Amino acid sequence: MIILIGGEKGGCGKTTLACNLAIWGANNDLDILVIDADPQASAARFFERRESTPRSNISCVRKLGDLYSTIEAMSARFDALIIDTGGRDSIELRTAMVAADYLIVPTQASQLDLETLSYLDEVVGSAKALNPNLSGHCVISRAPNYPNSIELQSAKIFINELRNLKLIRQIVKDRKIYRDCFILGEGVTESKNAQARAEIQLLTQEILVETQALI
Ligand SMILES: Nc1ncnc2c1ncn2[C@@H]1O[C@H](COP(=O)(O)OP(=O)(O)OP(=O)(O)O)[C@@H](O)[C@H]1O
Ligand SMILES: [Mg+2]
Repeated sequence: MIILIGGEKGGCGKTTLACNLAIWGANNDLDILVIDADPQASAARFFERRESTPRSNISCVRKLGDLYSTIEAMSARFDALIIDTGGRDSIELRTAMVAADYLIVPTQASQLDLETLSYLDEVVGSAKALNPNLSGHCVISRAPNYPNSIELQSAKIFINELRNLKLIRQIVKDRKIYRDCFILGEGVTESKNAQARAEIQLLTQEILVETQALI
């Protein structure tokens, strides 16, 4: 299973999500490889910090440029590859789309972020011509933590109108615990914060149901 996390907008929580998904997978007996394909190398540094904790190590490699052959070479050796690309339309994102099974585009529920999705939706459409297995998804990330947010409702409507990116029902809210855990090299599912734990667990369940249907 090849899970690609990318998008054109910076700072929406791609790396945070990639690391949390990887930790959830590793703690649920999956052999995971994270490919950090962002020159900023935030995921690689996160897993380096994790090495100085008693938590289980997770393999993370850095790769820039064309990811296709790396993904092809690594995918049979792991249960899942989780690929984190930077916040722009890049060669890493484009080449990974040709090999990935499941693309997750995290987006904040703001108009500025949402506006970038229409173009990305077209890019995913072209990638699907080369890789019919590619299944594109959007998750609303860093969402406001209060009920009945109009911005959140508008974001859902906007995403539901896209052609190639399907809305993931589970939302990732803006919670300080995500930042605290990131500094410690831990996943929120390893923290005592029940709300964040439940959020990532429900999100992974939703992804697993979808991906198993794809296999
Ligand atoms: N759900 C969340 N709740 C609170 N803070 C978050 C959440 N997700 C990410 N953050 C914080 O938001 C900032 C950006 O997150 P992150 O680096 O994961 O985004 P990114 O999309 O990978 O950014 P880039 O485009 O630069 O790669 C970081 O300070 C991170 O700790
Ligand atoms: Mg990042």
